[in-house]
Amino acid sequence: MSFLFLSLVTLIVILLVLLVSLSIKYRKLKNTFRNHKKMLRSILKTINSVRYGNIYERVNDETFSMLPNFAQSINSMIDAISDREDMIKEYQNDLNKKIDGLKEVEQLKEDFVATLTHDLKVPIMAEKNMLSFLLDNRFGELNEKQKEAVSHLKNSNQELVELVEIILETYKLNETKISLTKEPVCINSLVEETIEEMHPISDSDEIKIEFLSYFNGDVNLDKFYIKRVLKNLILNAISFSEPNSKIDIFVCRDEKNIYIKITNYGKSIKKEEVKHVFDKYYTTTKKFRKVGTGLGLYLSNKIVKAHRGRINVESEKDKSTTFSVVLPF
Ligand SMILES: Nc1ncnc2c1ncn2[C@@H]1O[C@H](COP(=O)(O)OP(=O)(O)O)[C@@H](O)[C@H]1O
Ligand SMILES: [Mg+2]
Repeated sequence: MSFLFLSLVTLIVILLVLLVSLSIKYRKLKNTFRNHKKMLRSILKTINSVRYGNIYERVNDETFSMLPNFAQSINSMIDAISDREDMIKEYQNDLNKKIDGLKEVEQLKEDFVATLTHDLKVPIMAEKNMLSFLLDNRFGELNEKQKEAVSHLKNSNQELVELVEIILETYKLNETKISLTKEPVCINSLVEETIEEMHPISDSDEIKIEFLSYFNGDVNLDKFYIKRVLKNLILNAISFSEPNSKIDIFVCRDEKNIYIKITNYGKSIKKEEVKHVFDKYYTTTKKFRKVGTGLGLYLSNKIVKAHRGRINVESEKDKSTTFSVVLPF
């Protein structure tokens, strides 16, 4: 009996010891877990802080008394990131200064070209008037050969006038935003008027311009600017036509838009070049020994966009190129 009692007491003591030691272990584990949680929270806080720009935040060493090297490694990593960030900022400042310098030079160049072009425009316009007077026999009757020579001069003068105007208009657009003066304009009359003004140039290249319209009405637009667009597109069509060929101008509409399509035959635009033709200064004229600024389509695109329209290009290899001006009603 006494043996049984003794065994029971021993068992109870053993169990009690086990229970106490287990409880101590559990408490220790709980503490370690709490510490790890605290450490992870501290790391997360620092990471988020760094992520949102506070690169001076560091992990608190005291929280990491159990893993001192770990805190150090994380802090060194953030140090490295913040050093790089400072370096990047320095590079960025240098780069911004260089860009500002380049912009200034670009502006000076554009101002110089614009002033020069503006000064050139005066004698060119005076020349234009004089040549018209000569052809109108205001200074006496011209013989056939003289008339032919003066006509040639007038054609090249007209090309110069257009070139000068494209440069000046583009410069003006860079300085100020396009401000449109819209009014109802008869599209057919506008196209006919423009073709008439381009005759000296198309005639000298012996190119016929044919016009067909399926629309007879007014569209609200800025006459001056859209005429500039049509002139640019017709000038291009003449420049990139085969000699003695024709240019087709076609006008039509649907429920929403009016379309003015200008097609020339001959040199087409390569697929990979199509996406560049509206870029400022993009030109292939040098290849064809012609004069070009690469500003015509850039300017036209800006003008048409200001009208909430677009210009489409379709080019069939060695066959034809069509530029369509799409203007909303
Ligand atoms: N009708 C066209 N046919 C073929 N290529 C064209 C035509 N219109 C424009 N391009 C191409 O687009 C380029 C850019 O045209 P543009 O901006 O008017 O400048 P530029 O006429 O001064 O070269 C031209 O150099 C040419 O390569
Ligand atoms: Mg052009």
